[in-house]
Amino acid sequence: MSIDQLVSQMTLEEKVHMLHGSGKFTSAGVERLGVPALTSTDGPLGVREEIQNDSWAAAGWDNDFATFFPAGGGLSATWNLDLAKQYGEAIGQEARARNKHVLLAPAVNLIRSPLGGRNFEYFTEDPFLNKQLAVPYVLGLQAQDVISCVKHYAINNQETLRGSIDVQADERTIREMYLPVFKAAVQEGNAYSVMSAYNQFRGAYLSENDYMLNTILRDEWGFKGFVMSDWGAVHSTVESAKYGLDIEMGTEIDDYDQWYFSEALIGAVKDGKVDEAVIDAKVKNILYAMNQVHAIDTTGRKSGSINTPEHLEVAYNVAKESIVLLKNENNLLPLKDDQVKSIAVIGDNAKRKHANQGFGAGVKTKTEVTPFDAITTKYPNVKVNYAQGYEEKYLPNDLDRSWGLPIDYSADSNLIKEAVEAASNSDVAVVFAGSNRLVETEAEDRKGLRLPFAQEELIAAVKAANPNTIVVMIAGAPYDVSNVHEQVDALVWSWFNGSKAGDAIVDVLFGVVNPSGKLPVTFPKKLEDSPAHATNSFPGGPDVVTYQEGILVGYRWFDTKNVEPFYPFGFGLSYTTFDYSEPKVMNNGGTITLSLDIANTGDVAGKEIVQVYFGKNNSSIERAAKELKGFAKVELKAGETQQLSVEVPVSELAYYDVETSSWKVESGEYTVWVGASSRDIRSEVSVSLD
Ligand code: BGC
Repeated sequence: MSIDQLVSQMTLEEKVHMLHGSGKFTSAGVERLGVPALTSTDGPLGVREEIQNDSWAAAGWDNDFATFFPAGGGLSATWNLDLAKQYGEAIGQEARARNKHVLLAPAVNLIRSPLGGRNFEYFTEDPFLNKQLAVPYVLGLQAQDVISCVKHYAINNQETLRGSIDVQADERTIREMYLPVFKAAVQEGNAYSVMSAYNQFRGAYLSENDYMLNTILRDEWGFKGFVMSDWGAVHSTVESAKYGLDIEMGTEIDDYDQWYFSEALIGAVKDGKVDEAVIDAKVKNILYAMNQVHAIDTTGRKSGSINTPEHLEVAYNVAKESIVLLKNENNLLPLKDDQVKSIAVIGDNAKRKHANQGFGAGVKTKTEVTPFDAITTKYPNVKVNYAQGYEEKYLPNDLDRSWGLPIDYSADSNLIKEAVEAASNSDVAVVFAGSNRLVETEAEDRKGLRLPFAQEELIAAVKAANPNTIVVMIAGAPYDVSNVHEQVDALVWSWFNGSKAGDAIVDVLFGVVNPSGKLPVTFPKKLEDSPAHATNSFPGGPDVVTYQEGILVGYRWFDTKNVEPFYPFGFGLSYTTFDYSEPKVMNNGGTITLSLDIANTGDVAGKEIVQVYFGKNNSSIERAAKELKGFAKVELKAGETQQLSVEVPVSELAYYDVETSSWKVESGEYTVWVGASSRDIRSEVSVSLD
């Protein structure tokens, strides 16, 4: 039966009840017509544990164990588009195996401030890297017969006051910075669903934002799927119905009939306030998406698989390519397993698991290898001297929750003493520090960049006891690591990195894996250097936040304003070195191609991420000094040279012209920088456009 025929046979009541939750993660179908209830699940870190239909309590299943995939920060630090696709495929197979139609992922909001509570889940501060990663993820996911619900649409870049704040950002800023990832997910990734965010934009909630949902998403971008609200993000019946919402989810009223899109919507249609054609259109959006994933006629539908060795392998591959080597002096790393007889394994993060904790979705997993597990399993002959070193501690407070609490920065001298002893008795000391998912969490932004729990004092003491001290940070967002960087010779960054996080870290420490991750965000020297803070516009409030920095988000600000970052965007070291030849530039009118040779000049194989930035000379409009427009990740054996081409479509150089509401490419001369990071530029060439 065609979608039109199906809808024509439904009663108004049947149609409207398809438009609101009938459980925490379901909305009704029409059984008599063979339309099943629509089932959804979180989310970015892996398929969420099954919960009860009407409450957040665990359903108590014993077959809902899932793979814990690296959080967004980890995936983006790989800069590896094949891995993004494999990630989407694997998580999609898991969602299918759990019989879900919709996966509430990927989470792709741009990282505006280093303090954003959900930075760990999101990808990057750069709109180009963001969309490059999102598209293969969505394609891989949806190819498993699962709908991708891309979230959170849009301009949802803080947790503070997220349920009410009205974001004001100018048109060029949203078009060039915050929307490209959603546009690409819809147009190139064919995403069948989008989640409307909690906040308001220019005075209207995102679940009733005519401009964002109707004008941009549907009319301009041609979106054909459904808009599902974030959980509890709906505030009206008639406005939400008219202005583009399709499914209301998560409203905090027990009786589903009392939701905005239930009896009240039936009443609004009967009263003539909402046209029944509007309801039909919504039902069709849902049925369209369901059809795409064979949810109604299930012939040939993929069945999926969960918690498999193959998926663990994907999680491992992402984790191992995401780890960023930030400092490595005196060749302290990699460790030589024939020389290291004993290791002090120190720090709360040596044994901490990150699959759950914090507000929001986690993963119930059978596998989470910690660094401690990995060292003891992989190197049974190395003596491990473990010490916790520091403890998660919070100041007394009357907040009735476990996450986002005021941090206690005082050191515990006993724990430090134990750590010093372990370090003194070992050949090397590795401190696993950073943060955790109670510090970085949905629903709460961080208060500052300071590393929690006095870990600097611990690290100083350990370093004094053992000069061969290595620090591994496990976290999802920038911190002030200047003190740690000063103190130690080797500093490694890992993320909330999934089921195989510990294996990946230990393989990097011992040189089984040559680190190849690069930072997808800028680490500022101090908070006030970051654009949203330099302009005193984060988190704003009480009612409005205005994005004063405009298009100068992330490194665009640092480069344009000549502010020195602590670690620049795109930075990451390797155990080998790479030489870049001068690039040749070809411009065929539609595409600019940069060709260069890249050589591995060291003695181990490695991967390099070659980055291409563009800047416009003498632009007639405000521009960032440079913008990422292309990149390639290449693998080279020791001594190997490869020719590499990076293609940049000229359309990527366009700016959004507010006067004509269109994209324009300025003619004239552009500077092109090829580099190993946004600040490690290896060559500069220019190209002219007519
Ligand atoms: C989050 C969403 C999530 C939803 C359902 C909300 O709090 O913002 O990302 O998908 O909950 O768990």
